[in-house]
Amino acid sequence: MANAKVTKAIFPVAGLGTRFLPATKAIPKETLTLVDRPLIQYAVDEALASGIEQLIFVTSRGKSNLEDYFDRSPELERTLSKAGKKDLLRIVHDVTLDSGAVTYVRQNQALGLGHAISCARHLIQDEPFAVILPDDVISASTPCLKQMIDVYNRTGGSVIAAMEVPPALASSYGILDVAGVAGRVAEVRGIVEKPAADKAPSNLAVIGRYILDPSIFDHLDGLPPSAGGEIQLTDGIAAMIAAGQGVHAYRFSGDRFDCGSKAGFLQATVSFALARSELREEFGSYLNSMVALQNAAQ
Ligand code: G1P
Repeated sequence: MANAKVTKAIFPVAGLGTRFLPATKAIPKETLTLVDRPLIQYAVDEALASGIEQLIFVTSRGKSNLEDYFDRSPELERTLSKAGKKDLLRIVHDVTLDSGAVTYVRQNQALGLGHAISCARHLIQDEPFAVILPDDVISASTPCLKQMIDVYNRTGGSVIAAMEVPPALASSYGILDVAGVAGRVAEVRGIVEKPAADKAPSNLAVIGRYILDPSIFDHLDGLPPSAGGEIQLTDGIAAMIAAGQGVHAYRFSGDRFDCGSKAGFLQATVSFALARSELREEFGSYLNSMVALQNAAQ
């Protein structure tokens, strides 16, 4: 029997974004812009290009900008239309989501990623679903989530995006213990959230893309807080593995930027700017002149 189709994605966007204070005092972290598109747009583009039909945002207080961003904007649209600015109007229309395709759920307490996912349980019910963490921006010729859905169509169960990281960074990630490596896919035997470098079972880190079997909700139910005092999705996945359910790691192809950190956000900004034909020349020569200046100063 074919595996059930993955048509829904959860975007956890309830975090306070404290690493980007003071901006995030008034601007949701997910709407900070990479060139001219908010971070969340890259995640939504990836989901839609991977065949996702239902987008579920787990939000919190202070995220109304994000909801407005995906909605119609009658005044702006009228103004652009009157002025005959068809190209800009198209840009605005292209990012507007159909009302039927998007749902917002509030996470009214910041209890962790596992809890955030549980908040969408009633919208998922009994289907496999995707989770995309918008902080992890992945540039790839085939969207990362699409690559994972292709793997899931062969393996079933759950699939987690993975990437090798230097041992010193293990304590920033969920770390996987894998066996039976076949190309980019491996069986996951264990998973631990943010271990100390000397306790990490490998250097294979979880990156923010998951395809999860709906049984995850039962495993998350009643989980106590752990790493960082939060209810961790990682612990729910560990319980799934312990219950003998299939979980696979997938080493995706593509460039991943950690936009949850300032350095990563800046790297993504440079990379995405250089990928834009209208910016490449001017911005590229500016960067070259900066590098030349730095070299001269050394
Ligand atoms: C979350 C997950 C972690 C994963 C990481 C990827 O952590 O809990 O397992 O490795 O995303 O970005 P966070 O970065 O939200 O602390």
